[in-house]
Amino acid sequence: MDQKILELTALYEISKSLASSLDLRVAANKIMGILSSVLGMRRGTLTLLHPETGELVIEVAHGLTQEEMERGHYRIGEGVTGRVMETGEPMIVPDIGQEPLFLNRTASRGDVTHENITFLCMPVKIYGETIGVLSVDRLFKDTAMSLDDDIRVLTIVASQIGQAVKVSEMVNQERQQLIEQNRRLEQQLQTTFRLRNVVGQDRKMEEVYQAVEQVSATKATVLIRGESGTGKELIARAIHYGSARVGAPFIKVNCAAIPEPLLESELFGHEKGAFTGATETRKGRFEQADGGTLFLDEVGDLPLTLQPKFLRVLQEMKFERVGGSSTLSVDVRIIGATHRNLEQGLRDHTFRDDLYYRLNVVPIYLPALRERAADIPLLLNHFLKRFNEEHGKSIEFSHEAIDLMVQHVWPGNVREFENCVERAVIMSRETVIDPNELKKHMNRVLSSGAESVRGPIQESPLDSLPGNVRAIEREQITDALSQCGGVQARAAKLLGLTPRQIGYKIRKYNIA
Ligand SMILES: Nc1ncnc2c1ncn2[C@@H]1O[C@H](COP(=O)(O)OP(=O)(O)OP(=O)(O)O)[C@@H](O)[C@H]1O
Ligand SMILES: [Mg+2]
Repeated sequence: MDQKILELTALYEISKSLASSLDLRVAANKIMGILSSVLGMRRGTLTLLHPETGELVIEVAHGLTQEEMERGHYRIGEGVTGRVMETGEPMIVPDIGQEPLFLNRTASRGDVTHENITFLCMPVKIYGETIGVLSVDRLFKDTAMSLDDDIRVLTIVASQIGQAVKVSEMVNQERQQLIEQNRRLEQQLQTTFRLRNVVGQDRKMEEVYQAVEQVSATKATVLIRGESGTGKELIARAIHYGSARVGAPFIKVNCAAIPEPLLESELFGHEKGAFTGATETRKGRFEQADGGTLFLDEVGDLPLTLQPKFLRVLQEMKFERVGGSSTLSVDVRIIGATHRNLEQGLRDHTFRDDLYYRLNVVPIYLPALRERAADIPLLLNHFLKRFNEEHGKSIEFSHEAIDLMVQHVWPGNVREFENCVERAVIMSRETVIDPNELKKHMNRVLSSGAESVRGPIQESPLDSLPGNVRAIEREQITDALSQCGGVQARAAKLLGLTPRQIGYKIRKYNIA
């Protein structure tokens, strides 16, 4: 075949293999294969500078054994390869038998004086800096191509490899950064969910802390009870992050949020083909939590049909995936939480009593916020500090406003309280919140029939993020409209909206 066509074929195949793999070694191996099969070059070798030892190490070598490769270490300046590395200039040894610089370190060529071999050695560069060497052997007898042709092709290949090394370094760096970030986030989680970030000095809270410390050291099953928003999940995490399982996963399942037919597979996983749509085998939450903690939120809502299987896991730590026959064993600490009256469930036969007793080994009761009103100023400080930081503000509450908060019943407990403080921080144009200002931000979250729960805003639960965003949006628009005497165009300008946008939102929120 025409020499030029061979060259083009080789270069085309080489760029294809570089594009097909991010793994440098895989790509380089293919390249050496192509240089040999298409162009008849032998013992193609890629040697790269080791960033730590400063030695040149063979990355990939075509036609060399592992042992031969391992012998191929050079220092910069040493031998032909070392010399090319040092000077950044290509070197051609027309006959290696005649060249004293040629070290034959890999000893792969036997007695070099008997073979007529030309050795071509090209620098591999990134941004002009030499980072490695590409070399090949040519037997005198296969010289259909001129030496100049060889040099030209190898220069192109060396520069392509340089690009690939750069990409591979970038990918590795990125991976390293992700691993590092993951580690930082993990650490952040561990500090965020320490017990000392749980606020409250009430005697009932002290009892909670004591219980948390006691159970953290054990594998005991814990049942956390308390009204909505009292901090059940917070305490569950504090137990996990304060225990020896801290490095293993904390997995949460909300038994009330997952429809009954899906819950079994969610908890225990399923085998491929177990039911329509089960196209892959899937690990359940118990398996994912192996070695760590499984937090079963709203465990009081666990369907009666699943309770026997769950009881067995609690007792024996054994179960089968849905549609599976082999029994799996796990090591999982179980923490349940519920706001329900489980004892009522026993009487109504919606909760099995054997499960109840097995689950209720260590109960922890969280007091409602109204039972520990003296903690309200502490909580206020805690949330105010956080939200002021988050939103770049410096809002304070007047004494009268704090009194009002202490007297309030907070049916939604700490969650409602927290939302109220955040809303006040975001919305308020004053730096000091007085009772009048505070009242605007209270009763908006959970109290039913409040004036903010009107019209289409009701679509989403009001303590969800979308619900809050809508409430805030509606309020800002109402405020702007009243400031501008109801003139929509002016209110739009004030809010940075177009007249069309404000018109749409006024209709959406049903603002009179
Ligand atoms: N003692 C506390 N100190 C600081 N923050 C708290 C405390 N108790 C609860 N919180 C905060 O209140 C919010 C609600 O807490 P959490 O989600 O743990 O409550 P819950 O009891 O699980 O509520 P629900 O029953 O509605 O699921 C969270 O943002 C949590 O960080
Ligand atoms: Mg919860």
